[in-house]
Amino acid sequence: MTARITIDPRSPSPDSIRQAVEVLRAGGLVAFPTETVYGLGAHALDAAAVNKIFAAKDRPGWDPLIVHVADTTMARSLSKDLPPLFDALTERFWPGPLTLVVNKAAHVPEQVTAGRPTVALRQPRHPVAAALLAAARLPIAAPSANRFGRPSPTSAEHVLEDLAGRVDLILDAGPTPLGVESTVLDLTQSPPAILRPGGVGREDLAAAIGNVTRAAGVAEEVAARGLAGPGMTVKHYAPRARVELIDGTADEQTALLARRAAELRKAGTKFTVLQSPGDNQRYARTLYAQLREADAKNIGVILAVLPPPDGMGLAVRDRLKRAAGMGNEHP
Ligand code: TXA
Ligand code: MG
Repeated sequence: MTARITIDPRSPSPDSIRQAVEVLRAGGLVAFPTETVYGLGAHALDAAAVNKIFAAKDRPGWDPLIVHVADTTMARSLSKDLPPLFDALTERFWPGPLTLVVNKAAHVPEQVTAGRPTVALRQPRHPVAAALLAAARLPIAAPSANRFGRPSPTSAEHVLEDLAGRVDLILDAGPTPLGVESTVLDLTQSPPAILRPGGVGREDLAAAIGNVTRAAGVAEEVAARGLAGPGMTVKHYAPRARVELIDGTADEQTALLARRAAELRKAGTKFTVLQSPGDNQRYARTLYAQLREADAKNIGVILAVLPPPDGMGLAVRDRLKRAAGMGNEHP
């Protein structure tokens, strides 16, 4: 049974937070909102609870989880040999949509890190996530609260679609403000490498710490080395619809979109257009809900107009390219 509690995103009721803390302390699963997407949380130092996350999501065991922390003190307790850049980045971007990969402390369970010597840490800024972490005084391991291979959930309804009966409690604070996941930055490489573009733009990272590169994430690495194992897939979210990327200059995009729309109309193909001219933030916020809707409506073709790669645009481009089966973006 999944319980659902409505909670005010601006001033979360302490009583509701307390109920969620009890579930976490007892080794259960709580879905909660962050500023990016909903997370599926468990007590990060309880290996049995962490195993339940993988089972609920059908997530392959090779993909490590992000550990959410209440503050930098908690982050320090879970890591070792932190580089000086850690302070510069957390002062500037925490709490917020930036996940930092650092060397892990010995007591972080290998289930959380998929056997890696590193751990991914993030202090979220959504008031419900912050209140939950402060009240629990526990690190919370939480991937996005979707089934493996589905778009990340930006509402409690999305969580229920994928995980009803598989999660003990959902804290429903309405839609999440950013809509795409955090930027994952690997601080064990020098210069630091973006493993996944997300809520903090590359320009902002570069302005804060100088040189930042781009590197393959865990899924790409596992795919490249053929390590997924039998019956296991590294496949990313792929809608039932065929995703056609509309790229080029603004004028080229307008012309291509008009031509393809006319062709599809003539052919009687059910299609939808994804775009948000001049507003990358809005594009990010609505992207996953639109992809879910396209699946629900049995759309044949998604015409996805790629936004410019600044700010949230880089993350939107990355997710659209993955949905089109074209891998990730290396700008
Ligand atoms: O915004 C977000 O990051 C959301 C919210 C809930 O915080 N979480 C999220 O988690 O997107 P998930 O599990 O869907 O994605 C975590 C990403 C994966 O790409 C994983 O491979 C990477 O972080 N990751 C986790 N630990 C890592 C590690 N030790 N080294 C490299 N990559 C790691
Ligand atoms: Mg995910």
